Amino acid sequence: MTVRHFLDITDLSARDLNTVMDLAQADISMLGSPLAGKGVALIFEKPSNRTRQSMEMAVVQLGGHPIFTRGEEVGFDQRETVEDVTRIMAGYHHVVAARVFAHSVLQRMAAVSSVPIINMLSEQSHPLQALADVLTMRQELGDLRQKTVAWIGDYNNVARSLVEACSLEGMNIRLGCPVGYGASNSELTRIADLGAASINQFESAKTAATGAHAVHTDVFVSMGQESETAKRLVDFKDFFIDANIMSVATKDAIFMHCLPAHRGVEVAGEVIDGSQSRVVTQAHNRMHAARGLLAHLMGVTL
Ligand code: CP
Ligand code: NVA
Repeated sequence: MTVRHFLDITDLSARDLNTVMDLAQADISMLGSPLAGKGVALIFEKPSNRTRQSMEMAVVQLGGHPIFTRGEEVGFDQRETVEDVTRIMAGYHHVVAARVFAHSVLQRMAAVSSVPIINMLSEQSHPLQALADVLTMRQELGDLRQKTVAWIGDYNNVARSLVEACSLEGMNIRLGCPVGYGASNSELTRIADLGAASINQFESAKTAATGAHAVHTDVFVSMGQESETAKRLVDFKDFFIDANIMSVATKDAIFMHCLPAHRGVEVAGEVIDGSQSRVVTQAHNRMHAARGLLAHLMGVTL
């Protein structure tokens, strides 16, 4: 039987995404205990608050046992090969999840694994975050078809997964990125082909935010990019989200950020701590979305 991995949002069809959202919102008692007596390995090469906590709790809620391991302990390709680590862990666990520097490590894991591999963030994508983002937007905005999402800042791992998911949802997508930090034309086409109502990229934060129902951002310097900090803070200075930027979005627009956030760098305190912000709900939804995904991978149906 083919093993279903979750390395990217595109591992799900639009219909699968719907199913995961339904499972995420279902009462836990409806899901049974598909992980009873089973382990889930959680390997982290980078720090985490939300991803670790939400995945551990989602596993517990499905009756399973999470085991957290730091990247240094498994030592991918140092202590032993990625393939050896994966084959061994797949004998102990029903799911193996990893946060890695290189997305290729996840692909190598998936190539040899007899159990699902889940991406808990790579330099390329952060699909678990996108599931929580879609869940939050659905709860706040209702049917997402033809609704408008704006991404302001770096077209990074979080952005890539978010717009893949928003395209599957049939949304209008507006990117506002500095020159050199946006999506390529082929990437815009790839995203559009997933079903977006429209996709447009601008070099102005204000233009991108215009008419948006949800305005998203992330840090300007991701984990692993610390040496680029000084240059990035200059390059992104016009992509700071404040009340002026939010004023061009729709009147009831929500503000979203995957967190951790830096107030005064990518977003003003008045926005992230203001009435339009949904960042806490969004973070809490990480657990519900992770539970929905795990239930889906375990074959639970409602
Ligand atoms: N948003 C997110 O993935 O947070 P952590 O890095 O704390 O897991
Ligand atoms: N883009 C950020 C997201 C952190 C959750 C990073 O990769 O560091």
